[in-house]
Amino acid sequence: MSKTVQLIIDNKSYELPVVEGSENEKAIDISKLRAQTGYITLDTGYKNTGATKSGITFLDGEKGILSYRGYPIEQLAEKADFLEVCYLLIYGDLPSTKEFNAFKENITNHTLIHEDMRIFLDAYPTKAHPMGILSAAVCTLSTFYPESQKQNRSDEAVDLTIQRLLAKLPTLAAWAYKNSIGHPVNYPKNKYSYCENFLNMMFAMPAFDYEPDPVVVNALNKLLILHADHEQNCSASTVRIVGSSQANLYASISSGVSALWGPLHGGANQAVIEMLEKIMVDGGGLMKWINKAKDKDDSFRLMGFGHRVYKNFDPRAKIIKKAADDVLNKLGIVDPVLDIAKELEEVALNDDYFKSRGLYPNVDFYSGIIYRALGIPTEMFTVMFAMGRLPGWIAQWKEMMADNQPIGRPRQIYTGSKERDYSDIHKR
Ligand code: ACO
Repeated sequence: MSKTVQLIIDNKSYELPVVEGSENEKAIDISKLRAQTGYITLDTGYKNTGATKSGITFLDGEKGILSYRGYPIEQLAEKADFLEVCYLLIYGDLPSTKEFNAFKENITNHTLIHEDMRIFLDAYPTKAHPMGILSAAVCTLSTFYPESQKQNRSDEAVDLTIQRLLAKLPTLAAWAYKNSIGHPVNYPKNKYSYCENFLNMMFAMPAFDYEPDPVVVNALNKLLILHADHEQNCSASTVRIVGSSQANLYASISSGVSALWGPLHGGANQAVIEMLEKIMVDGGGLMKWINKAKDKDDSFRLMGFGHRVYKNFDPRAKIIKKAADDVLNKLGIVDPVLDIAKELEEVALNDDYFKSRGLYPNVDFYSGIIYRALGIPTEMFTVMFAMGRLPGWIAQWKEMMADNQPIGRPRQIYTGSKERDYSDIHKR
């Protein structure tokens, strides 16, 4: 017999079903709660609320486990190709060689962007943040492919939109960057792999030849894989909730880009480097900043520390920390910011404030250091995250649509004024 829990309200008892996941996580199914009891649950920030069942990503915050479709993140980061991981997340299994080649070819063939989209870039101010451009540009793609807005989409039509998104996001990202420095854009080149093509569009210049360095290509591949999905995080939940209104996939992904931008989510990678540079320039020592982070009257937080679900360690941070060391060694880069990052980590990990709250470096603490070493400008860090997270957003959207989930629409407890009568403005 399936498990239930008992809820007693005003001496009346209700049986609520318990749902168990494949890794033994447990939830109380409250989907009939309001109909049965008149009550709703209140959980701001959804700290205890499962918004969906999902078969995409598993994570155990206490044990520091993360896997995509059952494959441990450590194995994928070490051995896989980012596009292989995209396929795995979106379609549920690793591709055969034939499937993978077809997938890669389709993506390579869709990297170009309509010239009218390039013209839009000219209208942005030169200092426009590339995340603002990316979010707008992704949504704008829907206007070039109006068939994507239809509600009754065939699987083939959805696949085409997926290919276009995966293919065009690096082009849009690199073009947003080129625009911000006033340089001409580079067009995609089919001879390159996914990561090589992006690097070429970022760094090639009319004045000199550019060949992507394999060390840089490998590091980028790893970073994209590590960011590819993270179950029901802020941006994935945003994509799901926007998609649940039957908005098209471009619009849904664009909303995910916007959600990711915030410094408490993907924007943390930019904020980490800005914080480390500030600490370096300040020269007042680390304790000043540690104490600021601990002071409840000070809004300063240690960026790159803490995570909603990882309360012991973030497995991605472990991999990235090692990768940062490798990349810096291989490229022969000495970065004083990395030294500050290491010192800060050491001090914070031994401080009771951080220990007692389970605050550890998260994925973004070290990713910025690698991006700097790869020559990616700070304002592009969150864009890099978006490129990595794209397959996760798509997979979450696709799963939600396949499950025919209802429109996302939470309830509230109203705490405003009781009903009162309107009075004419002149009599007030
Ligand atoms: N520095 C100092 N104190 C912190 C930090 C921090 N980075 N993070 C949390 N705390 C403290 C809070 O003040 C709170 O203390 P209290 O219990 O005395 O009130 C306690 O730790 C719990 O913090 P919450 O904000 O309740 O934890 P929550 O799960 O809501 O937030 C979050 C998680 C947003 C990631 C938070 O740790 C944070 O702001 N970190 C810095 C930003 C960051 O690095 N974000 C990237 C996350 S990873 C990602 O999105 C890819």
